[in-house]
Amino acid sequence: MALDASWVDGDDSNLQPEELRAVARANPERQAEFATGRRIARRLLAAWGLPPIAIGVGPLREPLWPPGVFGSIAHAGKLCSVALSRRLPLGIDLEFAQPLERDVYEEIVNASERSGAPLGSLTTTALFCAKECFQKARTFHARRWFEFREVSAVEIAEVGDAWRLELSGPAGIPALRVCAARAGNFLVAAGF
Ligand SMILES: CC(C)(COP(=O)(O)OP(=O)(O)OC[C@H]1O[C@@H](n2cnc3c(N)ncnc32)[C@H](O)[C@@H]1OP(=O)(O)O)[C@@H](O)C(=O)NCCC(=O)NCCS
Repeated sequence: MALDASWVDGDDSNLQPEELRAVARANPERQAEFATGRRIARRLLAAWGLPPIAIGVGPLREPLWPPGVFGSIAHAGKLCSVALSRRLPLGIDLEFAQPLERDVYEEIVNASERSGAPLGSLTTTALFCAKECFQKARTFHARRWFEFREVSAVEIAEVGDAWRLELSGPAGIPALRVCAARAGNFLVAAGF
């Protein structure tokens, strides 16, 4: 696995024509975060000896990786992170390290998860990150969006400023094990 992160700097000179087309109508902030993800991804691919190919955008907004590579991209604020694997589909997510607001909580956290992730706790955000990781990693298997109610945590364990979670989804979709941790103002999660 390879992982790197960078601050978004607004330099989109690295984008290739196919990528430029994908964000042509986006606002400058969105173009900048997209470009940062592609720049980090190409840096990681180069470290594996792979060429600096375009990383297109699939029908579900997923990044299109070269054959034999799985990857995931996340943004929060001005931070961007990319993780790659040569073995398994994976998902990463970044959020600000603050508990979910009540309305988001009610939408994201299922009744069965509420004792393990009580309103007002940072565990709620770890669970949200884990569900975003589930979407990103399991798009590869399902080729569709999931509803939040389709995916439930079967394990939520808090260990200091970190969490271990396991998420189970619809029949036929592999469970996802996620590690989440606080890193300064951010909460970062990754799952296979
Ligand atoms: C897809 C989604 C998870 C992305 O999360 P986000 O908070 O909007 O944004 P993030 O910065 O965390 O991630 C964005 C990156 O995710 C990746 N991404 C977007 N859609 C994706 C998908 N379907 N599969 C895999 N990766 C995807 C892209 O690389 C994108 O960055 P880029 O456009 O610069 O390449 C989110 O937009 C979403 O729609 N969630 C609702 C569906 C969902 O999460 N269901 C979960 C049920 S358990």
